[in-house]
Amino acid sequence: MSIIDVNRDSWNKQADRYQKNATFSFDEVDYGNSSCPKEKDLKLIGDVKGKKILELGCGGANCGIALAKQGAKMTCLDLSSEQIKCAQNYAKRENVDIRFITSAIEETSNFESKEFDKVISICAFMYVKDIDKVFQEVNRMLKLGGTFVFSLNDPIFYSVAFGSIWKEDGISDNYFYSGEERWKWLDSDDFDFITYRRPIYEYINFLVDAGFSLERFYEFGSAKQNASEEEIALYKKYPSLMVFKANKVRECN
Ligand SMILES: C[S@@+](CC[C@H](N)C(=O)[O-])C[C@H]1O[C@@H](n2cnc3c(N)ncnc32)[C@H](O)[C@@H]1O
Repeated sequence: MSIIDVNRDSWNKQADRYQKNATFSFDEVDYGNSSCPKEKDLKLIGDVKGKKILELGCGGANCGIALAKQGAKMTCLDLSSEQIKCAQNYAKRENVDIRFITSAIEETSNFESKEFDKVISICAFMYVKDIDKVFQEVNRMLKLGGTFVFSLNDPIFYSVAFGSIWKEDGISDNYFYSGEERWKWLDSDDFDFITYRRPIYEYINFLVDAGFSLERFYEFGSAKQNASEEEIALYKKYPSLMVFKANKVRECN
């Protein structure tokens, strides 16, 4: 099975559980953890009224729904048909109109060039192997001057945690590790996820190479639900979530 197939299958299996445990707001954008500063604090996405916005890896589309309520014309994409089903139900319940697409982030060639004013992604890019190619595609889909905002796991926390409190075979504790990790959400699961960890400079250089200028970068310690005392102590000392805001400043050839 390809990496995309493994993650699609696993997200289809865990969509219900993920949505039931989530503490999402459908009225404001958070960057993947409700205990961290939100869009209303950071103002990275900015004014959305009438803007065409693409969300990559939308899950239940809580962020897309919040932006649609503020007048954005949202397109929300996710690999998992089960996550998209949840998102469609939420959108109906919240009374917003969103274009939903079931597709991999890596398969966006059907979108037109310069179709969007803004592209966002919350905690989904760690599932993508060739993130440099995705950044190039985002550049293609964005208008010149368009905004690209995304969050994902911070490699600092994960390298420290895997070197101290979480010992897992085959998962590196080296901050400079750049590559694949295969893991289970719960030890008792019989399905795996495949994610990618990279040092932060790789993201920055891939953005610049793809025609973006980095405008803002934040890191937060964001304790996951049911974290142990040991984990909470680490979350206070090391960042686990990072948020980038970049602007398209040139075409990417
Ligand atoms: C941690 S969840 C985050 C979902 C949502 N953005 C949120 O904040 O709740 C990751 C999401 O990425 C999706 N995903 C994983 N790999 C993907 C890929 N290659 N293409 C598109 N979506 C993907 C999963 O189906 C899942 O919905």
